[in-house]
Amino acid sequence: MQGAKACKKNSHLLFSFLLLLSFHLTLSLADKKAISKDQPCKHMVLYLHDIIFNGTNVANATSAQIAGSKPPLGDFFFGKFVVFNDLITGDHHLLSPPIARAQGFFFYNMKTDYNAWLAYTLVFNSTEYKGTINIMGADLMMMETRDLSVVGGTGDFFMTRGIATLRTDTFENIDYFRLKMDIKLYECY
Ligand SMILES: *[C@@H]1O[C@H](CO)[C@@H](O)[C@H](O)[C@H]1NC(C)=O
Ligand SMILES: *[C@@H]1O[C@H](CO)[C@@H](O)[C@H](O)[C@H]1NC(C)=O
Ligand SMILES: *[C@@H]1O[C@H](CO)[C@@H](O)[C@H](O)[C@H]1NC(C)=O
Repeated sequence: MQGAKACKKNSHLLFSFLLLLSFHLTLSLADKKAISKDQPCKHMVLYLHDIIFNGTNVANATSAQIAGSKPPLGDFFFGKFVVFNDLITGDHHLLSPPIARAQGFFFYNMKTDYNAWLAYTLVFNSTEYKGTINIMGADLMMMETRDLSVVGGTGDFFMTRGIATLRTDTFENIDYFRLKMDIKLYECY
């Protein structure tokens, strides 16, 4: 009898706790504005040009390997670490007016396919925009498109968040590639 009473009391407590919890969750959900995937508060399409240091193009190169095993570990550059400061334009021409720089790094981290981890800041300093957008995540290069997180921003992009969808636009020779970045921001202040 005693045991059954205690059990009943416990289930009462549990019930009140769950009620409180759901009330709290409802409140905090109501606080947030609903985010719709199809309705970003800002949408930008940008192109990143990466000119890889090939041993002689010192003046022109915008990216270089700074660490990694030589010869590389396996066929997919596992462990190779690259630092870059790349030009960003609004279309796929390298000589189009610059919109921003992409300053960051990536390292290859898969032994069975091309795959990297990528982190960079888009630094805007034009009449149109001043500020930064920070982007990071896994770059599954074998996928046609891959989504990275926009984790924050400053200036005109104060506290922003969103998704940057990358697509390899071209890969020429071994010393130039271009990424198309489809950036959708869902928090704009
Ligand atoms: C490196 O790139 C430059 C400029 O694109 C080119 O002229 C040069 O031949 C390349 N060097 C090598 C070793 O591929
Ligand atoms: C710089 O690199 C780009 C892309 O590879 C190339 O089109 C251009 O001719 C290069 N300029 C010089 C001066 O090497
Ligand atoms: C931004 O551009 C202005 C004008 O060209 C220049 O004076 C300033 O140094 C630049 N700032 C940065 C952080 O590049």
